[in-house]
Amino acid sequence: MRIGVFCSGGDSPGMNACVRAVVRTTISLGHEAVGIYDGYQGLLDENFYICNGSAVMGLRSVSNIISRGGTILRTSRCKEFATPAGLKKAADVLVKHKIDALVAIGGDGTIRGCMALGKQWSGKIVACPGTIDNDLLGTDYTLGFHTAVTTAVDAVDKLRDTAESHQRMFLVEVMGRHSGYIALYTALAGGAEVACLPETLTDLPGIKCQLEGLKGRGKTSIIVVVAEGDEAGGAAKLHQSLTDAGCAFSGRVVSLGHIQRGGSPVVADRILGTRLGDFAVRAILDGATGVMAGEVGGKMVLTPFEQTIAQHAAVPDELVRLLETMAN
Ligand code: F6P
Repeated sequence: MRIGVFCSGGDSPGMNACVRAVVRTTISLGHEAVGIYDGYQGLLDENFYICNGSAVMGLRSVSNIISRGGTILRTSRCKEFATPAGLKKAADVLVKHKIDALVAIGGDGTIRGCMALGKQWSGKIVACPGTIDNDLLGTDYTLGFHTAVTTAVDAVDKLRDTAESHQRMFLVEVMGRHSGYIALYTALAGGAEVACLPETLTDLPGIKCQLEGLKGRGKTSIIVVVAEGDEAGGAAKLHQSLTDAGCAFSGRVVSLGHIQRGGSPVVADRILGTRLGDFAVRAILDGATGVMAGEVGGKMVLTPFEQTIAQHAAVPDELVRLLETMAN
């Protein structure tokens, strides 16, 4: 069997570990692996990873990448692929290059692409959840989430130092268009006082009151972690609103942005990526298609594409309450 592998959508730390596992497991089981550059765009452009003059990857083509951030296959967000003509072209390319199956590494947009492609092409498709957002169902954690949170917590620790020195508040914006997972975990692990999440209502008068209470109880610095997708409008807007309302602390805004997507993956992401890639290949060889590989309660599982994106994975209420208790 010839198995194609690609990364799509926003990159996430651990994608390289996953590519490495797909290639090594495929070869170890006597099959061929083909790397596709630039996600769906590279498929349309027939842009394959070339190794010793061949599009078939060797064991050594993925040497020493497990510790590297980003993805050696690069990635993209491709509008052309989502059109009927794009899907037909992609299916034709796969047939032309005798690719029997695909492992797609990416987030919800990637899975939607897999579902559309599955209607045009008879090959097998298994996805691996590669996104820092942790917003897919069918896996406890998505690939890159732990590294992104580690990066954000490192920033919060540094901001706390300067916040303490100046007796200030920092509003730290983290990624998560639809999901508060990065914000909530960053807040919990960084000892933040407030987290503003898309899943919970951001109550401005309530936050103002909470900050006054904390000041009254001797708090000298405040960290507010804001998910970029928070309905109150992000850290800058929240800062303005709090300032206008006469906030008890003077504040500064820091947006961490794409820093969260880079860097060497932490151990959890290296292992998750390796397990996902290996499991996806074995699933394909066992006949699976139209499913995402995931890890739930320590066990590898397959979940139909439709179920993984039926809704954004919601942050656990219990952790939201835990943050409130800890912030007191
Ligand atoms: O989906 C991953 C993610 O990092 C989101 O958290 C963020 O909103 C988005 O990608 C940013 O996308 P881009 O890199 O295209 O600006």
